Amino acid sequence: MGKVKKVQESEVIMTEMVLPNDTNTLNNLMGGKLMHWMDIVGAIAAQKHSNRIVVTASADNISFKHPIALGNVVTLKAQVTRSFNSSMEVYIEVWAEDIPANTKTKTHRAFFTFVAVDQNGRPIEVPKLEPSNEEEQELFDGALRRRQLRLVLAKRMDPKDAVELKSIFGFEEVIEKRP
Ligand SMILES: CC(C)(COP(=O)(O)OP(=O)(O)OC[C@H]1O[C@@H](n2cnc3c(N)ncnc32)[C@H](O)[C@@H]1OP(=O)(O)O)[C@@H](O)C(=O)NCCC(=O)NCCS
Repeated sequence: MGKVKKVQESEVIMTEMVLPNDTNTLNNLMGGKLMHWMDIVGAIAAQKHSNRIVVTASADNISFKHPIALGNVVTLKAQVTRSFNSSMEVYIEVWAEDIPANTKTKTHRAFFTFVAVDQNGRPIEVPKLEPSNEEEQELFDGALRRRQLRLVLAKRMDPKDAVELKSIFGFEEVIEKRP
């Protein structure tokens, strides 16, 4: 049997401060800068799970509902939710803190996928992940549906094979009606 790791082993917390160079003309954090930080914290989590070099394969939708202001402290937390063969889904949460005002708001969440690769960039097998509590189990279970959705959207999976997705969207009938 291959190696099995706990979610806790891949947890990463990263803290940054929004400086003038990170902002747009409204003095709010640039979306691209936040995605850069998310990519880094996520990659570290995936590296910790796999003990390998990892590359970003995809980032699921990120919406920018709450602007993060200049001077805010940004906390990013990442954990691996499930591993497959060479890929790992990483869940990232972001908080913005205004320390003088004593407020802290959860501003973003996203799922990224990283792939462990060898020195030649070829995908390589990663340890399995074992959830330890209800929340980790919920993220673990949902990861299969999310994987199928992103692989279908990336045209890497035939919708006919996305068994978990069919059960949520009921698009079995749609597929069956196709000529
Ligand atoms: C990601 C990458 C390693 C996949 O390589 P590949 O030759 O297509 O390999 P495979 O088809 O065997 O896929 C390997 C894994 O990647 C996953 N994968 C590939 N594309 C994916 C995507 N768009 N979203 C999620 N997972 C993806 C596959 O599901 C597979 O997972 P599994 O092994 O757990 O089943 C390759 O496409 C790559 O190197 N991409 C560039 C990465 C990069 O430079 N990232 C920085 C972005 S600027």
